[in-house]
Amino acid sequence: MALLEVKNLRTSFFTDAGEVKAVNDVSFSLERGKVLGIVGESGSGKSVTAYSIMQILAGAGKIVGGSIKFNGQELVNAGEKVMKTIRGNRISIIFQDPMTSLNPTYTIGKQLMEAILLHTPRNKKEAYDRAVEMLRLVNVNEPEKRMKQYPFEFSGGMRQRVMIAMALACEPDILIADEPTTALDVTIQAQILELMGSLQKELGMAIIMITHDLGVVAQICDEVIVMYAGSICEQGTADEIFYNPCHEYTKGLMRSIPTTDTKGRRLQPITGTPIDLLNMPKGCPFAPRCDNAMKICIRERAERILINDDHAASCWMNVKKAYENGEVTIDNTDLPQKDKSSAADAEKTDQPDQKKSKQTKTKSDSTKKGGGDNDR
Ligand SMILES: Nc1ncnc2c1ncn2[C@@H]1O[C@H](COP(=O)(O)OP(=O)(O)O)[C@@H](O)[C@H]1O
Ligand code: SF4
Ligand SMILES: [Mg+2]
Repeated sequence: MALLEVKNLRTSFFTDAGEVKAVNDVSFSLERGKVLGIVGESGSGKSVTAYSIMQILAGAGKIVGGSIKFNGQELVNAGEKVMKTIRGNRISIIFQDPMTSLNPTYTIGKQLMEAILLHTPRNKKEAYDRAVEMLRLVNVNEPEKRMKQYPFEFSGGMRQRVMIAMALACEPDILIADEPTTALDVTIQAQILELMGSLQKELGMAIIMITHDLGVVAQICDEVIVMYAGSICEQGTADEIFYNPCHEYTKGLMRSIPTTDTKGRRLQPITGTPIDLLNMPKGCPFAPRCDNAMKICIRERAERILINDDHAASCWMNVKKAYENGEVTIDNTDLPQKDKSSAADAEKTDQPDQKKSKQTKTKSDSTKKGGGDNDR
């Protein structure tokens, strides 16, 4: 059993302008001791996914469908009493800007001790010792002295270390890190990531690392989900996402990060703006920004297609490729029977249409019976 199993999660904000479908049919699982990356541009639904798990959505936000199981226990509609035993104890979260989470009027020591006293059965003296131990663990020098200082006396990187210490003080099974390094400069970013990686190995917890930066993913994640407009467009092992991206959006993200290959070449940002979540199109939400969009992309959303056991993507390009490689069978006699070359011709003019796609199978799909868990 996975430590965390999210199935068909849907979260909306009910605003005066209408229902904002911020998270739309999101499914993933997280195994004990693994690091899962959630990647996507700003506004893609990463934080709302995390806040749904923690059930700390802003007033107008509601989970409207799906299931979130932690250790087999359903959290959706479990109620605040149950969530209080989970939040901060079994699942902790750290935010992008530690200043918003730290109280500027209390010392770091008092805040750390409060968290420990609230979430563990320790007494005051034990909480003090634990707080010092945690500061040492996250490489804060002279922890006893630092305990007496206020947040403003800490640098941004040091404050984030304190937040990590606070989140880890009760040894959670899952640490959700929501863009924990975004507000920091590059060198400090690297140090914090390294720290998280080593703590993860040492303590054996699972991490959900939320980021808009694929570079962060490369450094620390085992599995990755890529989100666009509230949905997962691609998911797989970090290696698969990096070396074999199969969604045009992920490919765009890859082209926009600096690598040794791109030295001396211009990085290509993804142009255009994300779709308005109040007016979701029928087709692929990335179509207006996709250089390779086809007619079918405007008409219909691609279903999730298994690329292999470790990888799935929702992009029509994979169906097109499968046609071109002869890996797709058309098994409905109502369809015009075409040889491979004429099928490829049809692709060029009108690309795989709705009717064909519903009645075709890629080899990878048909050979993966039983791996159907991933199929939706
Ligand atoms: N409090 C809110 N009220 C209304 N809509 C919201 C609210 N918070 C988030 N949203 C909507 O959800 C979308 C996803 O937000 P979020 O998960 O914070 O994105 P990100 O991927 O940057 O973390 C936003 O683009 C916005 O449309
Ligand atoms: S489904 Fe079509 S529009 Fe969407 S990313 Fe793939 S090719 Fe581009
Ligand atoms: Mg966010």
